[in-house]
Amino acid sequence: MAYYLYRAANEEDTESLARQIASLVMPGAVIALDGDLGAGKTRFSQAIARGIGVEGVVNSPTFTIIKEYEGSELPLYHMDVYRISQEEAEDLGLDEYFYGEGLTLIEWASLVKELLPPDRLEIYIEHGGDNNRVFRLTPGGAAYEAWCANLKENGWLE
Ligand SMILES: Nc1ncnc2c1ncn2[C@@H]1O[C@H](COP(=O)(O)OP(=O)(O)OP(=O)(O)O)[C@@H](O)[C@H]1O
Ligand SMILES: [Mg+2]
Repeated sequence: MAYYLYRAANEEDTESLARQIASLVMPGAVIALDGDLGAGKTRFSQAIARGIGVEGVVNSPTFTIIKEYEGSELPLYHMDVYRISQEEAEDLGLDEYFYGEGLTLIEWASLVKELLPPDRLEIYIEHGGDNNRVFRLTPGGAAYEAWCANLKENGWLE
């Protein structure tokens, strides 16, 4: 599958990408995040949250598993499935979120790959040295291909 790259040299760069992506989201959008501990999945999610008009603090959902927020544009469903079993994940009824009115951001998404909708944007964040991060975006489905094409056209992605 085709993928696209974004190189962040610092947190501001990560925020810039998040803001661009936030401007593209529609109800039922799903962004699947992966990358090692401390790669920046939560940091990126916080920036997306701000981008869709969520006010207040967005914490890591590692212990709550799913947290819902009201954005000015649409609701945000922020998930972290690192700590749950396959069975627990199946019981969460994730489809309600994936096919709901909001944007789903799911950290450690590859752990529940079988439960994800085929149409989604996958983002793998690779930890470089210091504050460097490489974002690898893989679009699944026409809507996300259009997002990536748009971002590339505007010089955001390689
Ligand atoms: N360019 C960058 N983009 C994002 N975070 C960065 C960057 N540079 C440094 N950081 C720091 O890296 C850390 C990323 O932590 P974060 O909690 O977002 O990771 P995570 O991928 O969600 O980890 P976990 O798997 O534990 O949930 C933060 O402390 C953040 O300040
Ligand atoms: Mg996290």
